[in-house]
Amino acid sequence: MKKAFRITLKTLGIILAILIFGGLLGWWYVSSQFLNFENDYTEKKNIPALTIDGYTFLDRNDNGALDVYEDDRASLEDRVVDLFSQMTLEEKIHILKGSGMASGMGMVDPEEGIPGVVGTIVATPRLGIPAINLSDGPAGLRIEPTREGVDRTFYATAFPIATLLASTWNTELVYNVGNAMGNEALEYGIDVILGPGANIHRHPFCGRNFEYYSEDPVVTGKIGAAMVNGIESNGIGTSVKHFVANNQETNRNYNDTRVSDRAMREIYLKGFEIIVEDAQPWTIMSSYNKVNGTYTAESRDLLTDILRDDWGFKGLVMSDWFGGNDAVAMVNAGNDLLEPGTKKQWKALTKGYGDGTLDMDAVDTSVKRILTLALKSKKMKDYTYGENPDLEAHAEITRKSASEGMVLLKNDNVLPLEKGKNVALIGVYSYDFIAGGTGSGDVNEAYTVSLEEGLANTGFSINQKAKEVYQKHKSANPEAFIKPEGMSAMFNPYLPPEMSYDDAMMQDIAHDSDLAIITIGRNSGEGGDRVVEDNFLLSEAEKKMLSAACEAFHAVNKRVIVVLNIGGVIETASWKDQPDAIVLAWQGGQEGGNAVADILSGRVNPSGKLTMTFPIDINDHASNSNFPQNGLPMQITDMLFGKDEVPEDEMVKNVDYTNYEEGIYVGYRHFDKAGKDVSYPFGYGMSYTNFEYGDMELIHENDTLKVSIPITNIGDVKGKEVVQFYVSKDSTQIDRPVQELKAFAKTTMLTSGTTDTLEVNIPVKSLRYWNEKSSQWTLEPGSYVIRAGASSRDIEKSVRIKI
Ligand code: BGC
Repeated sequence: MKKAFRITLKTLGIILAILIFGGLLGWWYVSSQFLNFENDYTEKKNIPALTIDGYTFLDRNDNGALDVYEDDRASLEDRVVDLFSQMTLEEKIHILKGSGMASGMGMVDPEEGIPGVVGTIVATPRLGIPAINLSDGPAGLRIEPTREGVDRTFYATAFPIATLLASTWNTELVYNVGNAMGNEALEYGIDVILGPGANIHRHPFCGRNFEYYSEDPVVTGKIGAAMVNGIESNGIGTSVKHFVANNQETNRNYNDTRVSDRAMREIYLKGFEIIVEDAQPWTIMSSYNKVNGTYTAESRDLLTDILRDDWGFKGLVMSDWFGGNDAVAMVNAGNDLLEPGTKKQWKALTKGYGDGTLDMDAVDTSVKRILTLALKSKKMKDYTYGENPDLEAHAEITRKSASEGMVLLKNDNVLPLEKGKNVALIGVYSYDFIAGGTGSGDVNEAYTVSLEEGLANTGFSINQKAKEVYQKHKSANPEAFIKPEGMSAMFNPYLPPEMSYDDAMMQDIAHDSDLAIITIGRNSGEGGDRVVEDNFLLSEAEKKMLSAACEAFHAVNKRVIVVLNIGGVIETASWKDQPDAIVLAWQGGQEGGNAVADILSGRVNPSGKLTMTFPIDINDHASNSNFPQNGLPMQITDMLFGKDEVPEDEMVKNVDYTNYEEGIYVGYRHFDKAGKDVSYPFGYGMSYTNFEYGDMELIHENDTLKVSIPITNIGDVKGKEVVQFYVSKDSTQIDRPVQELKAFAKTTMLTSGTTDTLEVNIPVKSLRYWNEKSSQWTLEPGSYVIRAGASSRDIEKSVRIKI
């Protein structure tokens, strides 16, 4: 017995020792490869200032002389050339990759960096080049709001999600949001914001659609350029991502997008091309996926031939985090910077130099691009950041932009509501509003205004019976209401379960209140795609809640409004007849509840319009047969450690590869061509007033079609109208969409009876199609129709022109 006991103890001891040893070994590996391998390259602090011939400068390399790169008066080009000439080969190779994952996981000492920053361009201490801070993301800075031992907070504003901003169709407003975001970066010491996202909504289920603007490349390009220009007006860089054709999260690090050249040029690349043309961003981020067999991060065709040679992009390309497979191939292709950087990549580049596979011309070019960014940065200018951005002013911008991007989908004479009404709030999300999506597009905001708070702030009273139901539900499910934090928040969208109401309960609430507002909430994000059941479709609980509320409230002649607090398209056709009004509130950032209340109360007249189609059935989308339907979650280990290539005959459709069989027929291009009815068309959105479209004028001057159209507010309340300009070809020899958006404009705030004449320029070159036979843009001569529409399915005026 004793012997058996001893043997058991011994065995357990051995197992424990192995576990401890294994754990230590694992930690050592992770730490040495991903976290702490930069010890010799710590940023040089306290660089001495010198004055020579009356000019004071920072003597970055400590040589007691003024070098050209230290001289702010010299041209950027000269400074780059000088700095480059002083770098050793090791320093050049070293600067091509980031400093590792430590900062990405918030593991940075506030003395040495900014907690929450996800990557850096590494310091070169010998020459006094500082570390350059890169931070997510598209809806605001994702820095850590608290720091150990520091008695204050560092909150950043959660602005509305990108999809909502695009739905404003207001480039000036998006510029202002970008400007505020850039100001927060400036004040918190961030040099480059990792955003905006410019991928196309190919399919409604992409988990990251909320970070992207539209199913249309012109909306994507114009809104994206406004955002870049707004952020960069602060002297802060952007990284427009994820270049390119990264339209699903399932197996995103390895998925091969198989797509035609024409669809690439006309749809997936086009938005990026417009952004480069209109805003020339500081950086672009290559994506994780492959395109036609090659990782985008290793594609010379995409990163050099198209981006640089065709479009004239001047900035640098950085990889997505751990993106690409072969560090040498990445640099050779024109992927200048590898983020967040690993020791393995460093070794691979050094080896590539040794065996001659690393193209040293490419290295020199990439290093110069990185130095250009470093020299442009505020960090290099030694800007002292105040860490006190005006968060109140930015909250105001958030509220204003959020309300302008909300879309009124239905209104049977119920909205706007009279203030003072007693509102029964139905559904958990009415009390727990969703500010934005999850993953790197999330922001650690200080607060989120719920719909309940927003309505109360705006002068409505909140029905207590309905609220009690929520409170009971919450106390009965305490676990489900704990918001995930840290890494868990990255990949687990917070989605507390919906409530169930019995008929008697709902009737009681209906008697006790003036009207009902039901909120339907959805949340998704990085690392997972959405699915049909309980996500695209309403869940059983939601359906019951909706019909119970409509029955009970309508029975006593009271109205029901649905608010959609969602980040991507859901099914609406089967239930939209039931409520009296539907407001698509999207995810409006930290001021979401106030912004919806502004719409509901009429303080703001809705002027948002859809930048994507709401289909009747998900099968109606041409891309649906080639999109993952079961949304597999991302494997973090695949991302960190890589995985073996899957042999062609073992590849799983929509996981290892995705065929973009629909070609250019994405969104309305498909629905129009197939003559399919939709639930709400691209470009759709209602107002509390009406607009009249006057006669459209068209002048063909040089290479531009100058179009103008007067828009008059013929209703009773002031409002703004978004006008979309589509182009169709009368008769054509090629396969082309029925119509394509080429420009858009929004009126100023029009009081009743006033007119604004909108003017847009349509470059003739934008009418070309990508000719796959000759591999070039081709203009088909003949007659074109320019159509001005209130939506893609509501064309008000058109003019014909021969080209
Ligand atoms: C995301 C990027 C993000 C980066 C840094 C990646 O997983 O795809 O969009 O900027 O992480 O957080």
